[in-house]
Amino acid sequence: MFEKGLLEKLNAHINYFPRKEQAILLCLHEIQDHYGYIPQETLKPLADLLEVPLNHVEQVVAFYDMFDRETPAKYRIRVCVSVVCHFAKNKELIKALENILKIRPGEVTPDGKFKIVPVQCLGACSEAPVFMINDDTYKFEGEEKLNEILSRYT
Ligand code: FES
Repeated sequence: MFEKGLLEKLNAHINYFPRKEQAILLCLHEIQDHYGYIPQETLKPLADLLEVPLNHVEQVVAFYDMFDRETPAKYRIRVCVSVVCHFAKNKELIKALENILKIRPGEVTPDGKFKIVPVQCLGACSEAPVFMINDDTYKFEGEEKLNEILSRYT
């Protein structure tokens, strides 16, 4: 079961919509914000709250790469690997992240602070190559600038 504060937020989302299941994405975001990822043990209680089968929740989590079911990190750096960012040299972005953080995509820094998560289009193609740190979107403008941005996240 969810702790009281989180449960209240989930119920607020659920009560907003005419049909409970329509709140599924907002609820998953809420859970991910709370834990840093989507723990497996939250899926069944969420399915019960939404009054949908467990496999429906599992399918939604699996479909969207914005949801992370594995190792949590305080800050998830989502790097767009879709076509526009690819041609805008997102490889340089990934290389710069690897240089600074000493981890590869899919890995978490030893202090649990950053995780590099390759994802599909972030919807900011005009700024390509693009990355997000949790909910903040950035255009990659070189390793030095990237380092400065990362230093803001403590
Ligand atoms: S292709 Fe990278 S943000 Fe759209």
